[in-house]
Amino acid sequence: MSLIQIKDLKIHYPIRSGFFNRVTDHVRAVDGINFEIEEGETYGLIGESGSGKSTTGKAIVGLEDATSGQIIYKGHDITKASERRKLKYNRDVQMIFQDSMSSLNPKKRIFDIIAEPIRNFESLSKEEEKKRVQELLDIVGMPSDALYKYPHEFSGGQRQRIGVARAVATKPKLIIADEPVSALDLSVQAQVLNFMKKIQKEYNISYLFISHDLGVVRHMCENLAIMHRGRLVEVGTREDIYHNPQHIYTKRLLAAIPKIDPKNREEHKAHRQAVEKEFLENQDKWYKNGRVYPLQQIGKSHFVALPQDKLEGGR
Ligand SMILES: Nc1ncnc2c1ncn2[C@@H]1O[C@H](COP(=O)(O)OP(=O)(O)OP(=O)(O)O)[C@@H](O)[C@H]1O
Ligand SMILES: [Mg+2]
Repeated sequence: MSLIQIKDLKIHYPIRSGFFNRVTDHVRAVDGINFEIEEGETYGLIGESGSGKSTTGKAIVGLEDATSGQIIYKGHDITKASERRKLKYNRDVQMIFQDSMSSLNPKKRIFDIIAEPIRNFESLSKEEEKKRVQELLDIVGMPSDALYKYPHEFSGGQRQRIGVARAVATKPKLIIADEPVSALDLSVQAQVLNFMKKIQKEYNISYLFISHDLGVVRHMCENLAIMHRGRLVEVGTREDIYHNPQHIYTKRLLAAIPKIDPKNREEHKAHRQAVEKEFLENQDKWYKNGRVYPLQQIGKSHFVALPQDKLEGGR
């Protein structure tokens, strides 16, 4: 059984307008998505800005209410669970954010930032608390004199480590990592990804890894879902997505991965332009009135948003 299953999740925001401030329409931020995450795995949720990734992540940790759908954690629908089960869930499922400067309270010392989630769930003595926070700093490779400093005294990479320490403090089973390295330099990105992997192995944590960049998550995720306009356009294993992509939007994200090798730079640019052209010219093939088609299974674990006739018509 999967650790968590997301079933037909929808999050629609009302748009109000006119003198009476009536609801005239909805933003379909998340519009019926399904995926599941196994224990100990890293699942990638990838898409451009505005595709609905953060809204999905926030709904899973309970920071956003689902309009409809189910979030099934260890076999129980958490949207309908008892308070006791929800409390356990809130401890088991944590989140780390892209912007550590605004997600870590600037007025609090690192000690209190990391101790806060522990205090919400356990009553430890001051001594025990200090010991636990020191252990957590050690796990993420921060010196223990960080305890009494403030977030602004650290670099972006160090602050992300502190964010991870805070997320790990309650011994979670699942961490929603929303663009955890997007604001960091390339070399620092690699460090943060490496210790996220290390922590995952040690504590058997699952990640929902949210990113707009298929390059960043290439070595992190066993399975990925590609999100566009509130829906999933393609779902598959790392092999399916990187070596056998089918949807034009997935191809476009792959073509957008920056190439460092100067040798093929021109070739890469031409490829990217060709993919972009196909994307712009074939909207009505890949989208129905701008909306993503339902997913169709095309391989063991490979799903693509295609109209049924595209499947049979031998593309
Ligand atoms: N509270 C809200 N009210 C109305 N619309 C919202 C609200 N929150 C998000 N949206 C809209 O929902 C859509 C999805 O937003 P979301 O933040 O989930 O995207 P994202 O994929 O995380 O993008 P990014 O890569 O920029 O973080 C966007 O069109 C956004 O404007
Ligand atoms: Mg986001």
